[in-house]
Amino acid sequence: LLKYRGGVVRRHDALIPLTHDHHHALHNLRLLRRASDEDDAGRLDAARTFAAFFREHSVLHFREEEEEIFPLVISHPEAPTDGVVRVLVEHVRLHAMVKALEAQVARGSVEAVLMQELADLLRGHIRFEEDDLFPAIERLVGEELGAVSLAERDRT
Ligand SMILES: [Fe+2]
Ligand SMILES: [Fe+2]
Repeated sequence: LLKYRGGVVRRHDALIPLTHDHHHALHNLRLLRRASDEDDAGRLDAARTFAAFFREHSVLHFREEEEEIFPLVISHPEAPTDGVVRVLVEHVRLHAMVKALEAQVARGSVEAVLMQELADLLRGHIRFEEDDLFPAIERLVGEELGAVSLAERDRT
């Protein structure tokens, strides 16, 4: 059992590492969003820290979802195709926004609005996966999930 947004959600064992990643990402995006009203130096520092987190953790997380989890459900007659399309497009949007963030970091000045939009997109993305897409996948392909074992990596 993992706590999520004040409630308690039972996750399939195979998805627990991804839910753990989500908690970690929520913490990091809160820091990014909170720093958006700081001065130039504070925004630069927070943006650099978030971009490093994204490169180290989120890129692998997206790949595990795209390569190990979503393929299990995409051919199911009741596949949540719209939901899978939504999260794939959001993965691409998140890559684009982090590239923009890194470009601003390299120039030495980061826009508050970009920090806010990036944090909001990632938060909505995680909520959709946790509240809608993961439950649908558990319901439709719970048995197939039993064969999934995500590689060990540092998720702290
Ligand atoms: Fe995702
Ligand atoms: Fe995710």
